[in-house]
Amino acid sequence: MKHNELLLVLDFGSQYTQLIARRIRESGVYSEIKPYDVDPGIIKKMQPRGIILSGGPSSVYANDAPLPSSDIFQLDCPILGICYGLQVIAFLHGGQVDSAFRREYGRADLFIDNATDLFQDMDSPQTVWMSHGDHLTQLPSDYMVIGHTENAPIAAIKHFSKPVFGIQFHPEVVHTINGEKILKNFVYNICGCKGDWNPSSFIETTVLEIKDKLGDQSALCALSGGVDSTVAAYLVGRAIGAKLTCVFVDTGMLRQDEVRQVTEFYQKADFNFRLVSAGDKFLSELQDVIDPEQKRKIIGNTFIRIFEQQADQLGNIHFLIQGTLYPDVIESISTRGPSATIKTHHNVGGLPEKMNLSLIEPLRELFKDEVRKVGRELGIPDYIVGRHPFPGPGLAVRILGQITQQRLDILRPADKIFIEELYKNNLYDKIWQAFAVLLPIQTVGVMGDERTYENVIALRAVTSMDGMTADWAEIPNAVLAKISNRIINEVKGVNRVVYDISSKPPSTIEWE
Ligand code: XMP
Repeated sequence: MKHNELLLVLDFGSQYTQLIARRIRESGVYSEIKPYDVDPGIIKKMQPRGIILSGGPSSVYANDAPLPSSDIFQLDCPILGICYGLQVIAFLHGGQVDSAFRREYGRADLFIDNATDLFQDMDSPQTVWMSHGDHLTQLPSDYMVIGHTENAPIAAIKHFSKPVFGIQFHPEVVHTINGEKILKNFVYNICGCKGDWNPSSFIETTVLEIKDKLGDQSALCALSGGVDSTVAAYLVGRAIGAKLTCVFVDTGMLRQDEVRQVTEFYQKADFNFRLVSAGDKFLSELQDVIDPEQKRKIIGNTFIRIFEQQADQLGNIHFLIQGTLYPDVIESISTRGPSATIKTHHNVGGLPEKMNLSLIEPLRELFKDEVRKVGRELGIPDYIVGRHPFPGPGLAVRILGQITQQRLDILRPADKIFIEELYKNNLYDKIWQAFAVLLPIQTVGVMGDERTYENVIALRAVTSMDGMTADWAEIPNAVLAKISNRIINEVKGVNRVVYDISSKPPSTIEWE
């Protein structure tokens, strides 16, 4: 996609690199992340309005320290170094970085020594967030100090005549109270951006580009009922209308009322919609399978076969629509967590090679929260746009052990009650993902005067930014009590409910 204004973020391995890019976009300017050693020729072609050097865990003096080409300073483009990025600027221009001084983690008071440019219209001191071992002890030549803290006498610098700045603290985290203002000062005052990045401009440009690319050729999309595939389909639907066919496969592993709810919604859309009811087929393929990876494989393969049949029936399909998001395409040096190798997540991967279709990925530049904004702008209702992520294998990986119709009939209403109560208590949107899990054990209980020997439901709810790491959600006890009470009273076959208090890592979000 072509952008009038682009801010480039070079990634030196900070856990906050994506957050910097998101903050810039929130300020109204499109931003992209590239590895720290990206060829300056590529940067030149991208014509960024400004470059941000991210933080990172290294020391500039380490043997394998990540350093950018010094040519980036000849690009005639404003540069802002954040934390390690500041140290890179200093190191490459003759400054001194030291680790012997005191480390600084957490909040600090930044005293502003020059309230122009980056710190324009800002009072001193400012509460900022520090997270560094090394810091600057000697200025590079041609630079001046524009801010200091008690522990860091050189906490912010500026070149005397060029638009190159460095700050030791992190403006992208919310603990830096006026971090947004500092980034906006860089983006608007220093880089001269006007701010043309918003959901409606994205929709307009993307729809035009898709029209251009597809002309009157046909496309196929596998809808999951989730936000990403829905928004992707709506964008392509706007561009090519009836030339797009969307297939929604009922795997029999979906949640209560999901097929009805999602189908009713899609039937009103501007594209051809097909529901394939294949619950019995999936259930029989999964009979007696208890290994989670085997469940995934079977579901993935069965799905692909159904999808291929649909494509054959339709004939003359040239493009496949996928809802790939930006975090999946960033070529970053940041470690992205081990989960991709622990579970085979993307069970429809491999489709394009097999089917000889060209891929269209209209969301590949967006973060999840941006996809939701675009979805709302497209008129997609909140109950679709705000939905929690749901794994492709669905309830198959939430029924531990054997999957039977009877066990599906226990899990579904339990899960529904959980989600209903979260909505009622205004908790649903604060939680990344919440669901019920049916355990493969039975426990003793007493109902009335009778001994029972029945199933256990585990409740899982996590908060997260992107699903790569997660904390268990602190749902108030009274709400948990209500959920447990309702599940045990209303769902036949359950006599115990437990709440999962594990974070990721070391656990994962799903139980299988
Ligand atoms: P874990 O359980 O690895 O999950 O912490 C991270 C995110 O991925 C989802 N997930 C899946 N999504 N197919 C998918 O499409 C899968 O097999 C799968 N397994 C986990 C999970 O729900 C969470 O959002």
